[in-house]
Amino acid sequence: MKLIIKKNYEEMCAEAAKTIKEQLDHKKDTTLGLATGSTPEGVYKELIKYYKNGEIDFSQVRTFNLDEYIGLSKENINSFNYFMNDKLFDHINIDKKNIHIPNCDGKNIEEFCRNYDKMIEDSGGIDLQIVGVGQNGHIAFNEPANQLSFGTTIVELAENTIEINSRFFDSIEDVPKKAITMGMGTIMQAEKIIWIANGKGKSKVVEKFLSEKTITTEFPVSILKLHKDLTIIVDEQACSSLGR
Ligand code: F6R
Repeated sequence: MKLIIKKNYEEMCAEAAKTIKEQLDHKKDTTLGLATGSTPEGVYKELIKYYKNGEIDFSQVRTFNLDEYIGLSKENINSFNYFMNDKLFDHINIDKKNIHIPNCDGKNIEEFCRNYDKMIEDSGGIDLQIVGVGQNGHIAFNEPANQLSFGTTIVELAENTIEINSRFFDSIEDVPKKAITMGMGTIMQAEKIIWIANGKGKSKVVEKFLSEKTITTEFPVSILKLHKDLTIIVDEQACSSLGR
């Protein structure tokens, strides 16, 4: 496990984007696992900058996103499909057929979940997975619980997640209650994981992760401790609960 502390959000994003660039320099047909939310937004901005400067090529890259709300169409501005196109894919030379984001429009979501893991497997697995973290320790939408799914699955969102994510919606009632998420097993099978966290809101989670020795499904991020190649990139505010 490697911990990198950067001064602020911009530097944290630059560091994460640099790692992604290095991965693509090393393997042009990399499979990336991607996250949505406020945390990776700046990372995607940095990747777009690299692309515009001719320093990165996405033409052979495949992507698999972590999660998506159930009940929002792909065109809904709060869907993760919309977010990814808007914040990254519409601005780079990725081949649209190489983009995979859980699709909740279909009738048989269970079957979609099974196929999603198969698609990841068939693409040779995820080389580099980016994850953010919820204030309750969730990874993707794997919410704290007494057991977690290994593979991609349907989940009920925690009250706390609905409340926090309501900042993007007109009202809390509009936040979907269910989502599709990659399971912790799928995530842990990635060759390399980068966990990014910034701001005071994440300081308790970072502190708990670094100070507690236990691994528990009640704190899903703790499972990342078992990964063989985990890099944590945080800003100083996310470390503000840590002692010296
Ligand atoms: C989203 C995802 C979530 C977020 C988490 C933090 O694809 O996987 O686990 O990473 O909810 O969200 P932000 O970055 O908005 O604080």
